[in-house]
Amino acid sequence: MTVTLEDIQAREARHILQTYKRQPVAFVRGSGARLYDTAGREYLDFISGIGVTSLGHAHPRLTAALTEQAATLLHTSNLYYHPYQAEAAARLAQLSGLPRAFFCNSGTEAVEACLKFARRYWHTQGAKERTRFVALEGGFSGRTFGSLSVTHDEHYRAPFAPLLDGVTFVDPADPSALAVAVTDRTAAVIAEPIQGEGGIRPLSPQFAAALRDACTRTGTLLIADEVQSGLGRTGHPFYAPILGLRPDLISVGKALGGGVPVGAALVSERVAQAISPGDHGSTYGGNLLGTRAAVVFLTELTDGGLLEHVKAAGVHFERRLRALALKHSVILEVRGVGVMRGLQLAVDATPFVDEARGRGLLVNRTDEKVVRLLPPLTIQEADIDRAVEVLDAVFAAVAVEAKA
Ligand SMILES: Cc1ncc(COP(=O)(O)O)c(C=O)c1O
Repeated sequence: MTVTLEDIQAREARHILQTYKRQPVAFVRGSGARLYDTAGREYLDFISGIGVTSLGHAHPRLTAALTEQAATLLHTSNLYYHPYQAEAAARLAQLSGLPRAFFCNSGTEAVEACLKFARRYWHTQGAKERTRFVALEGGFSGRTFGSLSVTHDEHYRAPFAPLLDGVTFVDPADPSALAVAVTDRTAAVIAEPIQGEGGIRPLSPQFAAALRDACTRTGTLLIADEVQSGLGRTGHPFYAPILGLRPDLISVGKALGGGVPVGAALVSERVAQAISPGDHGSTYGGNLLGTRAAVVFLTELTDGGLLEHVKAAGVHFERRLRALALKHSVILEVRGVGVMRGLQLAVDATPFVDEARGRGLLVNRTDEKVVRLLPPLTIQEADIDRAVEVLDAVFAAVAVEAKA
């Protein structure tokens, strides 16, 4: 089927609910870190479907496993057993130290499950007043009612009020705020170890220490939302332990399926003991296709040496980005770890993102003035070099335009 961008745009304008402002390009094929549009033009993909296509596009082992699985058995529901949930869960347990997993289909659902499990834990303990949540200013955890309630941005929240009652937001720049906000009525604190949508902002060591203290002092559960920062993106399985945090629950998604929708809530044994059949569920959650994809990804991450690869690639990436920032004064700061990077600009990032796309490089804008870079975990140094060269030209070109 040959389609043009214009055909697709015209049909979408009539029939797609307009919840997204899309960029004017339609992709039909991918290979590794490259995408190809309807006109056959090649792009270097430094956003990977917002941190999802962790193994790059059309990864041979993922493709082979999915093709075989699609031809064998796709779905049976959670009424029955199949081989891949347990295997994916065991691998996640080994990486996280949290022994049990609940599978779902997205990051939002993973967060939603964590919030419910935290409430359920205290309900089972008989502490029925422990229902409150503490979340972080700048945090993003999804857009269902529960996950939106712990997402900070008023732009997302305001039209849907009232949201969950009893959520307090604290400023991650103010560790002392935690001592007041986290009390013996708090069910859980939820935090992204590195805020993703909020502009690639790692929690400071001071804030992480205060968070650990507040949770220990009050017995509050800690939910690490590692949907974006987890599963190798930083060169570590998870970023919470790097900050000295030991979460009771972790939400994962994005990278886990390499492009197939699968998420999971990872749960400590003490929380798991509070959960009974019927407390939560999902028809599709943990289906054969999703969990088989997760097994392939997790195998690549650990046995395939991907974690070590990201560590090395991340060092190279950081060096190149810091050199870039020295050349272009509009870049105020380079943030992030591994292959999760953000360039804090002095101005709106939109023209830079558009110019990069025009030059065949896909990046995105987040928190208005941040250029976000989330290449596949498999990214090679030569492609990092190429991307930084394009960015160099982009910053030079947009600066000239701004002066003209
Ligand atoms: C930290 C974090 N949590 C949750 C979500 C929601 O995940 P999803 O869009 O897969 O539902 C996102 C998405 O960007 C995220 O970055």
